[in-house]
Amino acid sequence: MSTLTLEDVAVRYTKRGVSALAGYSDVILPGEWLGLIGPNGAGKSSLLKAIAGLVRSDGRLAVDGVVLDDLNDRSRAALVAYVAQDPLIPNDMTTREYVLLGRTPYIGYFGSPTRADHRVVDDVLERLRLGEFADRLLGELSGGERQRIVLARALAQQAPILLLDEPTSALDIGHQQQALELVAELRRTERITVISALHDLTLAGTYTDRLVMLHHGAVVAAGDAAEVLTADRLGKIYNVCVTVEVDVDELGNRQVVVVPRRGFPAP
Ligand SMILES: Nc1ncnc2c1ncn2[C@@H]1O[C@H](COP(=O)(O)OP(=O)(O)OP(=O)(O)O)[C@@H](O)[C@H]1O
Ligand SMILES: [Mg+2]
Repeated sequence: MSTLTLEDVAVRYTKRGVSALAGYSDVILPGEWLGLIGPNGAGKSSLLKAIAGLVRSDGRLAVDGVVLDDLNDRSRAALVAYVAQDPLIPNDMTTREYVLLGRTPYIGYFGSPTRADHRVVDDVLERLRLGEFADRLLGELSGGERQRIVLARALAQQAPILLLDEPTSALDIGHQQQALELVAELRRTERITVISALHDLTLAGTYTDRLVMLHHGAVVAAGDAAEVLTADRLGKIYNVCVTVEVDVDELGNRQVVVVPRRGFPAP
């Protein structure tokens, strides 16, 4: 159970002098799921990488008052797990070996995985229904299978904060739902804090508690799905023609549905 505090977090890529993210501040509570949305290049991945410590950032990032930049890689990885948008995957590793890497923060430098580590790996593989791939080489799996295995590695890390950058982009609709439902269950049962970037706006609105829309590195809207996902705003920010519908199921759950329409948006 951890609270993530961001104070004026900014990312600038020095090589090209690009400012990818202007000062972003937020408090993300234990068990909360924050969805980052916004067009290509908006700064979503930059923000997630800053939290994961993979790009240099200005400002302050803290988990329960512990400043992340003061931690070594291992201690940081025990707090923050990260699924990259385009992960580098070693083709010659088996699924089980790769998912076991998620346990690295808990295994001493010269130590070997314990039975408990293997149990965590088995459990995650089972929950993501990846058992049949356990002994297969990653280079011999499909793109969607590999993406689920990358998610499995992050879940095996058992960090209280989980960062997901487009974790379902290569998944079919069934596996998308399975992966997001598993994350939803983990945050309910383990109070994991989740921050995800998702391009599918309907899914983003359905699974998260709160959406933040970024554009050119700055927040242009924040709130629940009904507040943020308006046809007018999506038209302006994404340059797209959509309608937004609110669907109410038999249990009274409301779901904001973004439907792309033929045509070009007004300039
Ligand atoms: N390593 C880098 N060096 C220089 N500029 C970068 C680097 N990575 C990203 N950028 C730039 O920073 C800006 C934000 O990129 P970022 O990857 O955060 O966007 P995003 O919102 O994740 O986009 P997408 O939806 O396409 O994944 C873009 O203008 C991008 O070109
Ligand atoms: Mg991105």
